[in-house]
Amino acid sequence: MWTVNTLRQAYLDFFTDLARGHVVIPSAALVPENDPTTLFTSSGMQPLVPYLLGQSHPKGTRLVDSQKTFRAVDIEEVGDNRHTTFFEMLGNWSLGEYFKTEQLEWFFTFLTDVVQLPPDRLFVTVFRGNEELGIPKDTESVAIWQKLFKAKGIDAKDVDFADRDGMQGGRIFYYEEKKNWWSRSGVPAAMPAGEPGGPDSEVFYDFGADLQLHEQSAWKDEPCHVNCDCGRFMEIGNSVFMQYQKQADGSFQELPQRNVDFGGGLERILAAAYNTQDVFETPAFADTIQTITADTKAEYNQAEYQPAIRVIADHLRAATMLIVDGVRPSNKQQGYVLRRLIRRAAVKNQALGGDFTPIKTFQSIAKQVIEQYAEVDGRLGFGVEVKRDVPIVQEVLATELTKFGATLDRGLKKINHAGEADLTEQFAFDLFQSYGFPFEITQELFKERGVVLDEVKFKEIYRHHQDASRSASAGTFKGGLSDSSEITTKYHTATHLLQAALRKVLGKHVQQKGSNITAERLRFDFTHHQAMTEAELQAVEKQINDWIAADLPVTKQIMPKQQALESGAIAFFVEKYPDEVSVYTVGKDPETDWVSKELCGGPHVSNTGTIGAIKLTKEQAVSAGVRRLYAELA
Ligand code: ALA
Repeated sequence: MWTVNTLRQAYLDFFTDLARGHVVIPSAALVPENDPTTLFTSSGMQPLVPYLLGQSHPKGTRLVDSQKTFRAVDIEEVGDNRHTTFFEMLGNWSLGEYFKTEQLEWFFTFLTDVVQLPPDRLFVTVFRGNEELGIPKDTESVAIWQKLFKAKGIDAKDVDFADRDGMQGGRIFYYEEKKNWWSRSGVPAAMPAGEPGGPDSEVFYDFGADLQLHEQSAWKDEPCHVNCDCGRFMEIGNSVFMQYQKQADGSFQELPQRNVDFGGGLERILAAAYNTQDVFETPAFADTIQTITADTKAEYNQAEYQPAIRVIADHLRAATMLIVDGVRPSNKQQGYVLRRLIRRAAVKNQALGGDFTPIKTFQSIAKQVIEQYAEVDGRLGFGVEVKRDVPIVQEVLATELTKFGATLDRGLKKINHAGEADLTEQFAFDLFQSYGFPFEITQELFKERGVVLDEVKFKEIYRHHQDASRSASAGTFKGGLSDSSEITTKYHTATHLLQAALRKVLGKHVQQKGSNITAERLRFDFTHHQAMTEAELQAVEKQINDWIAADLPVTKQIMPKQQALESGAIAFFVEKYPDEVSVYTVGKDPETDWVSKELCGGPHVSNTGTIGAIKLTKEQAVSAGVRRLYAELA
């Protein structure tokens, strides 16, 4: 039977075989590099945007991968049978090459012939079209699907989801853009100018009417359909036909190339293979759940314990992968999300009868997760190593849980010292916000003091807060893409100039240790054994500005990695790059007269003059032997 590792491998093998000819590319890290628009890599498409827009990819036009993915918006949904914050998104990509016919046939063949899912369990959706946007109904995909089902002896009727009566008996459903349009920012109206997107076709697995999932759900009085949330159907893969780009006037134009962006939920396909609607009952989580139940003595098959066990299993897996990718608990951005995951898991562990600071249990789970992901095909570049990562992750968990223990004590004291009149829903929300107390626990504690909390009121306060933070993050996303992509591109090229200048002024021991760009500034970490002097800082700043003033051209070349390194190009992580790499050179002549040469995915300005001028604003220590510089566009 399938495991996460064998199923992933089967997918890679299927797409890299001669008939399909794809090349494996590495997964990007969970924290996007040089992309201030979003906290986490939340789809396989994110790192590939420049190539979908037309830049040539060093590995060609047919790519396959499994992207490590984290979706923070799903945190509150974890606990049900299918939502997880961390998951792997299987991806295959046509960059201006094959399109609907090949894509739909290949995915269907993979599901039915390789994974061996019964074809009659598969249902599909397509885009119903939008006249206003000038985007047609996707009858092309329908014709392809009908042919594929027919070959399996199935007559696939197409029906519109709005046709509630006609819908029963359908196999292909037309939905509007809320369901069958994909872009990083959602529906067409939400997309910023310049953003690519397109109609998509999703495949669902049917767990069967006999389970009566619909009848037992909150939707029982409505007709069931594939996008119904009752749990009878589970989406397992999505083929996006990435062929449009939003224009400044709100209209859509065809991109110069028609792309396919396929994203498949590895763990969900695994669940379908096991015909279980619960992804937590697949081998993906088997070891972890055993560890949790052994420690808490809660049984997974007892329905009341399931949500909490799932939360712990999901959050610990996600936390482990985030820590491996360099995130540390803090009160800001990615670090805050990590902190919430660990603390929420700890609280659930206590609710199950375990400890509030379950250091040993969580450390065992982290080790299991690392062992599993250390086995991933090396070409996918997951970067998980048992020897290196187990001690790091265990240490981070222990420190965070110890801190949490102290915070909890303070929270409990706060409750104990509060007067009866203070024990309100707002107070409960503050405890949730500041100390990570879930509502149910506060409710229990207040009850001991004779105060009954209203869950509806609490949820109102919560929702109000969530809406506010959601629009704040939507703002970051939009603002980032539409207004600042030019600025971040400038900062990106400036980062290369900064590294070249540092190596010139301080010496060749200077090596990049990390970088981060926002619309306001760049941050650059590098190896150097002592604080920079005022004179050194001035020399570096002057050197960068001289290069900017010289308006040097920036050129991109694609070449074998070895040749790039031999030509003097520097690389942040040599082993992370594919064999064919793109090299960005700043200078009058990329062979003979240059000041900076780096392996890099871009994008960059075409001439340094457009950067304007750069000011170094701060220099500080990060850790032993590593310094950090901040710089701003002047
Ligand atoms: N990019 C598409 C998704 O995330 C495949 O669903």
